[in-house]
Amino acid sequence: MSSFELTYDGANLQKENTVLEVAGLKKSFGGLVVTDDVSLAIESGSITGMIGPNGAGKSTLFNQISGFYDPDDGTVEVNGTDVTGKQPNKIVQEGLLRTFQTPRRLEKMTVREAMLVGAQSQLGESILPLWISGAEVTREERANLERAMELLEFFEIDHLATEPTTSLSGGQMKLLALARALMAEPDILLLDEPVAGINPTLVNQIAGFIEELNQEQGYTFFIIEHDIEFLMGLAEEVIVLNQGRVLLEGTPETVQSDERVINAYLGDM
Ligand SMILES: Nc1ncnc2c1ncn2[C@@H]1O[C@H](COP(=O)(O)OP(=O)(O)OP(=O)(O)O)[C@@H](O)[C@H]1O
Ligand SMILES: [Mg+2]
Repeated sequence: MSSFELTYDGANLQKENTVLEVAGLKKSFGGLVVTDDVSLAIESGSITGMIGPNGAGKSTLFNQISGFYDPDDGTVEVNGTDVTGKQPNKIVQEGLLRTFQTPRRLEKMTVREAMLVGAQSQLGESILPLWISGAEVTREERANLERAMELLEFFEIDHLATEPTTSLSGGQMKLLALARALMAEPDILLLDEPVAGINPTLVNQIAGFIEELNQEQGYTFFIIEHDIEFLMGLAEEVIVLNQGRVLLEGTPETVQSDERVINAYLGDM
């Protein structure tokens, strides 16, 4: 396929193999309780799915875990470090990064620029230490560019590197979002509907990419998807969220055959 390779040293890992631990997360908007006492743990090297009807609180949960919303109550630990209420870029530095259900707007940027800006904004104000010399900055920039191109090759969109992002299809935007997320070399990636609204061929291709990143490079994934078939093929464990609460947690087979899940969601998801 491609020459893309990544060394994954797992250096951040502590606390046995738990990369993400969420306890008692609660969030309300006005009088509406959107996540209510959500607790879960994600093992390093796993792929975990999350399903649940529209409005169940799935994206709100990701927003709290990744620092975009402050939880009203509860805690979030990444690699054993308490990151509750921290800014998203600080949480990225601890090893957790999320993608968005609706791709962020990247106007007036080429695909390659979006990759480099992605690295910058995910890691904070500056990804370069202030004390390093001009020559080293250049070396760092070259390394970033190299990584950007490797990732674009991996996702098979390197031919679009100099195209404006506005010319990309919905599916290509999904691939770019994944490639940008990997610029930060997170331990765990939270993907919010990574295959929503794209064609079945590309859905399969993305499943293949995620599988390869997981099995060959050790990345951990936590994935929200309404596409049950996609999730059932990838995830070892699926969490069902209903009205802000964890309803059920189990293997895809267990979840798929659960009466409550069948009755409540699988019929109309
Ligand atoms: N910033 C906000 N202000 C007010 N209400 C919000 C906010 N964010 C989310 N909500 C509400 O929280 C509820 C859950 O929304 P959320 O986006 O988390 O659902 P979801 O499970 O991701 O649904 P979907 O499958 O449609 O993406 C909804 O009723 C939504 O309107
Ligand atoms: Mg959502």
